Amino acid sequence: MLLRQWLRSAAAFSAPRAHSGCSTTPKRKLPEDGLQLSDFIKESSRKQRQKAIIPSIEDTKEYLNPEDLNGNGRTVCYVTYGCQMNVSDMEIVRSIMTKYGFVETEQKEKADIVLLMTCSIRDGAEKKVWNQLKLIRGNAVNRRQIVGVLGCMAERVRHGLLEKRNLVHLVAGPDSYRDLPRLVAVATGGSNAINVQLSLDETYADVQPIRVNAESKTAFISIMRGCDNMCTYCVVPFTRGRERSRPIDSIVEEVRILRNQGYKQITLLGQNVNSYRDMSSMDFASTSSEGVPGFKTVYKPKTGGLTFTTLLEKVSDVAPDVRFRFTSPHPKDFPMQLIELIASRSNLCKQLHLPAQSGDDETLERMGRGYTRDLYLRLVDDIRQILPNVSLTSDFIAGFCGETEEAHQNTLSLIQAVRYSFCFVFPYSMRGKTRAHHRLTDDVPEEVKNRRHLDLTTVFREEALKLNQALIGTQQTVLIEGKSRRDESFSFGRIDGGEKAIFNNSELLLQPGQYARVSITDATSQSLKARLIGVSNI
Ligand code: SAH
Ligand code: SF4
Ligand code: F3S
Repeated sequence: MLLRQWLRSAAAFSAPRAHSGCSTTPKRKLPEDGLQLSDFIKESSRKQRQKAIIPSIEDTKEYLNPEDLNGNGRTVCYVTYGCQMNVSDMEIVRSIMTKYGFVETEQKEKADIVLLMTCSIRDGAEKKVWNQLKLIRGNAVNRRQIVGVLGCMAERVRHGLLEKRNLVHLVAGPDSYRDLPRLVAVATGGSNAINVQLSLDETYADVQPIRVNAESKTAFISIMRGCDNMCTYCVVPFTRGRERSRPIDSIVEEVRILRNQGYKQITLLGQNVNSYRDMSSMDFASTSSEGVPGFKTVYKPKTGGLTFTTLLEKVSDVAPDVRFRFTSPHPKDFPMQLIELIASRSNLCKQLHLPAQSGDDETLERMGRGYTRDLYLRLVDDIRQILPNVSLTSDFIAGFCGETEEAHQNTLSLIQAVRYSFCFVFPYSMRGKTRAHHRLTDDVPEEVKNRRHLDLTTVFREEALKLNQALIGTQQTVLIEGKSRRDESFSFGRIDGGEKAIFNNSELLLQPGQYARVSITDATSQSLKARLIGVSNI
């Protein structure tokens, strides 16, 4: 079929269904506005799961001439916003587009296609994208340029992005990247191209990502997608959909490949990384629920399958000279077997992200986090019993609905009690569809949120400075990632706990991907200065 004819039939599918999830015909349409609270409450059967999968390119090929999907050397500029999952997803997108004959360019103004990987976590994250879209439009030299919005904002804003026809021509949610070559063909023909259908199975397990930042010898591997936790403030379950995990063997194989290519640090990624559970394997050796006693979930405890502890054990065996980190975990999924495993392996980094969000029981309750301050502090104590030198990091939200001054003080005192080496602190931003949006009031004034944000940052930095200063005089192993921009004779990397260290490397000229033994000589709240002692093993 000629491209024009096919595009007409594709447009016929997309035009009248302006608010359906997908521009091809899904076997089971999701609700008009995508996933709703009720979709997380109902447990879906395996049959329903199968029905919700988007039609693959294979399913729609009757409308396609394979040649229509070919990039034929057209150029694509990739722009990434948001979390590490987005960096990892863009590596998958690069891989898919390259396979179809598109070529990467950094020249945004001249590119045939610009793809933005976007974030919706706070209103500010979306504003940044709108500003960038206007800039792209204003600066484009190529007047036929196609601009595509991918990722969480595509999933949340959907047709709202296409309404500004001059700014955006293509919209693709996090589970529709395999469909990108077809969407580009539709947009090239002048029609709106949108696929925001979420899947219950898509993990891109078979796509070999094209890595960015390869020279640092550090890489990300996505091991699971989606989130079932439904914290009341958070849009992620709606933009990323239900939790699903990649088969363990595909992850182990990717680790093996990266190790053979000389990578020395792998960060396992997921919105809820430690609730990983490979249900595809017949080898159900580990069947426990792996929850922390006392921590509650909105869903029935998951059992069966291969757990995160099993996965970590396997990857650590396969690549003994590679450091492993993981993010972003939830405190509820830290069984002591996992902590003991980390203690027993030198290649599992002694750095844990334990997002607390608040140190106040009533706020935690309203956030739906499933734990109290005491339970959280008990978990920290239990972890430190087994890993006395662990570096802990966290996320906090300032000014959530109904947060009083006393509640804020409770969060400050939690930060002082735990002593984190780093915290991400965010002023609360109300998001549509969330439980907080339905049931709570965004009643903390902006200036109070900003002041509390500053308080939290100041207190965590004070504690981080003390922790870093306590490292002065100790020896540490740094994995070198690159050269300092200010002075090329200095290299930087991270110690096992994740703190950044900078040292003069002009004598030994060690390269990224090598481990260096250093002695810590100075510290700020954000980084360490060090003296190079020599080459090291992990
Ligand atoms: N799955 C991860 C977090 C993903 S979002 C986890 O639970 O740790 C990263 C962080 O953004 C969250 O931990 C939270 O601190 C923050 N965040 C999420 N929704 C927010 C909102 N509506 N306003 C402000 N910060 C928010
Ligand atoms: Fe959002 Fe909570 Fe899921 Fe993290 S665990 S992504 S904060 S819903
Ligand atoms: Fe943002 Fe989506 Fe990541 S909302 S934080 S890009 S999961």
